Amino acid sequence: MSNFSATSAAKACAAACANIAFIKYWGNRDHRINLPSNGSISMNLAMLKTVTHVEFDKGFTSDELIINDVLVTGPGLFRMQRFLDQVRRIAEVQWYARVYSQNNFPMSAGLASSASGYAALSLASTKALNLHLNDRELSSLARLGSGSAARSIPGGFVEWYASETHEGSFAASFADPDYWDLVDVIVIVQDAAKETASSQGHVLADTSPIQPVRTKGASGRLAVCRQAILERDFSAFSEVVELDSMLMHAAMMTSTPALIYWEPVTLQIIKSVKKWRGEGLQVCSTIDAGANVHLLCLTKDVPEIQELVRKIPGVLSLIISQAGGPAQIIEKAP
Ligand code: PMV
Repeated sequence: MSNFSATSAAKACAAACANIAFIKYWGNRDHRINLPSNGSISMNLAMLKTVTHVEFDKGFTSDELIINDVLVTGPGLFRMQRFLDQVRRIAEVQWYARVYSQNNFPMSAGLASSASGYAALSLASTKALNLHLNDRELSSLARLGSGSAARSIPGGFVEWYASETHEGSFAASFADPDYWDLVDVIVIVQDAAKETASSQGHVLADTSPIQPVRTKGASGRLAVCRQAILERDFSAFSEVVELDSMLMHAAMMTSTPALIYWEPVTLQIIKSVKKWRGEGLQVCSTIDAGANVHLLCLTKDVPEIQELVRKIPGVLSLIISQAGGPAQIIEKAP
């Protein structure tokens, strides 16, 4: 039932963090509503944020989307319109919206800008239309915009449950951001848009002979990863995180058409990290749908890791982030 009662305009602003998956989401059981083929675990990234203002107005004649001061048209706009149609349907409102979104990190480089973007949009648009969704409902809604956005609604260390229903597939936090002193050193080797967006990649996942094996073993890896985080066991954590990332990239590389996101420097970093860990440094790597590499480590080791990784030719820059909190309404919009 809608509680919406504004007469001509309604607006709100929200912020959300991007997240890095430790156990990956790749492929859907239902593409229409992003019901994932397997559950996943991630950590929100405090330093990678999207702030989104949404304004619905009776007088607007179309939806408008501006990201980082650039007007978005075509598929990016249509995707947001399909998402807002769901919100309008729940609120029983037909007004168009203006959405103004700012990311503080490179877009479309495998850094999950769609996760933080759709989490912030879910919160801001439902607040503007006076829909009081709980965190679980908000996470399921965000999932409709971009699967991994479900994980950017709660804070800290998060698990997104695979389910056969829309209501059952949401993400929830199992440890606060300060539970474990884990840091993501994001090694940027490419900051241009990737060739195949993950939304297109999910559709190809089932063409890979690796995908059934990957999804079958996911619940075991989820349990190991959750336990390793809860016990702050870096050794168990690094093994399962690297295995899961490799399994996802194996599925990507063996799909039809093949998706190869890595650049030569990506492999160079993966191999260096293995060598450093063999020498006693607590560090492991994971890669999303892009060439950039996420190095996971503890705060105490960040200076040494930074120094080592900067020496690798082809490394453009680093972004360093600790675990971040949940998506939040910004009352005094900047
Ligand atoms: O939510 P999407 O459609 O951007 O998919 C995210 C896919 C990966 O980043 C590769 C893995 C993950 O779990 O975040």
